[in-house]
Amino acid sequence: MRAVQVVQPTGPADVVVTDVPEPTPKDGEVLVDVHRVGISFPDLLLSKGQYQLRPEPPFTLGVDFAGVVVSGPAGFEPGQRVAGVAGHGNAAERVASPADTTFALPDSLSFDEGAALPMNYLTAQFALAERGRLREGETVLVHGAAGGVGTATIQVAKGYGARAIAVVSTKEKAAIARAAGADEAVLLDGFKDAALELTGGRGVDVVVDVVGGAVFTDSLRALATQGRLLVVGFAAGQGIPEVKVNRLLLNNVDVRGVGWGAFAMVRPGYMQQQWSALLPMMESGVVKPPIGSTYELEGFGRALIDMEERRTLGKSVVRVRD
Ligand SMILES: NC(=O)c1ccc[n+]([C@@H]2O[C@H](COP(=O)([O-])OP(=O)(O)OC[C@H]3O[C@@H](n4cnc5c(N)ncnc54)[C@H](OP(=O)(O)O)[C@@H]3O)[C@@H](O)[C@H]2O)c1
Repeated sequence: MRAVQVVQPTGPADVVVTDVPEPTPKDGEVLVDVHRVGISFPDLLLSKGQYQLRPEPPFTLGVDFAGVVVSGPAGFEPGQRVAGVAGHGNAAERVASPADTTFALPDSLSFDEGAALPMNYLTAQFALAERGRLREGETVLVHGAAGGVGTATIQVAKGYGARAIAVVSTKEKAAIARAAGADEAVLLDGFKDAALELTGGRGVDVVVDVVGGAVFTDSLRALATQGRLLVVGFAAGQGIPEVKVNRLLLNNVDVRGVGWGAFAMVRPGYMQQQWSALLPMMESGVVKPPIGSTYELEGFGRALIDMEERRTLGKSVVRVRD
C-alpha cells in the first residue's frame, strides 16, 4: 500500500510517497481504510526533524485521518465511518488505529471534515474547557484564527456559548474566521486596542495563543481581570515568549500551558469523553471544520510547504480514496 514518508528529515520538499507493508492490527486496534488525511502542524515539524518526537526515518507522516472500518474490537463495525488521531503514521492507505483514539464520525460530516477534526478540535476543547475553564457568555480572543487550531477554537468557543473575537494577519483570513463563526475579526496590527474597544475597555476573558512570539505581551494586556492566556503553540517560530510575573499579580490574570497530547495520551478514555462533549456541537452544526485546500497523496509535501509559507486557510486535507 502507499504511504507518505520522511526518508530524511530535510523538510517538506523531500517527503515521498512510497510502498510499505499493510499494517496488522494488534489487540484493541481498529483496521481502517483511509479516505482522507488532515495536514497538521506536527507533520511540518516532523518533516524537518524539529518536533518534540524524533522517530527514526524512514517513518510515515499523518496525524488525523477519516475512513471506513475494515475490522475492529467491540464497538466498531465493518463499514462504519470513523475519524482518528495519532502522533504520526496515519498518512497511508490503511491504518491500524487504537480504539481509544478512533471516533465514530457522524453522518452529517464528510470525510474531509472528519479528517480535519480530531487533533485541532480536541485541543480546542481541552484548551477552553479543561485549562481555560470557559464559561457561557465569556469572550475568547483567538490568534491564528484562520488556521486549523484557530478555526476549531472559534467553533468550540461558540459551542460553549462564548463570544469569539478572531485575530488574523489579512482581510482574506478575516473572512475565513468569520465564516467559521467568529463574532468579530480584527487584524493582527493593533489587535489589543481593537479587543479592548470591542469589550468596552474591559478586556477579554480568555486568549488562545497558537502563534507566540510578538503577540504575547499585547495578549496579556488584552485580558480582563481574572482573564486566562492559554499558551497552545508557537507557529510564528520567533522563540519562546517570557512573562514578567508582576503583570500577573497587578492585573489578576493567569498564563496557562495547554499540552493536549501530553495530557490526553496518558489518560485512557479521556479523548472519547472529549469527543462525546463535541458530538452535540457537531450535530447542531456549530462544529463544522472549514476545509481550505484538498491535495492528492503526492501533494502532501506541497501542502506542508503551503502551511510553512502561511498560505493555509482552514484545514488542508489529502485525498487517499473516494
Ligand atoms: N498545545 C497543543 O496541544 C497543540 C495541539 C495542536 C497544535 N498545536 C500547535 O498550534 C500551532 C498552530 O497549529 P495549526 O494547525 O493551527 O497551524 P495553521 O493552520 O498553520 O495556523 C497557524 C496560524 O498561525 C499564524 N502564523 C503566524 N506566524 C506564522 C508563521 N511564521 N508560520 C505559520 N503560521 C503563522 C497564521 O495566522 P495569521 O497569518 O493570521 O497570523 C496561521 O494561520 C502549532 O504551533 C501547533 O504545533 C498545539
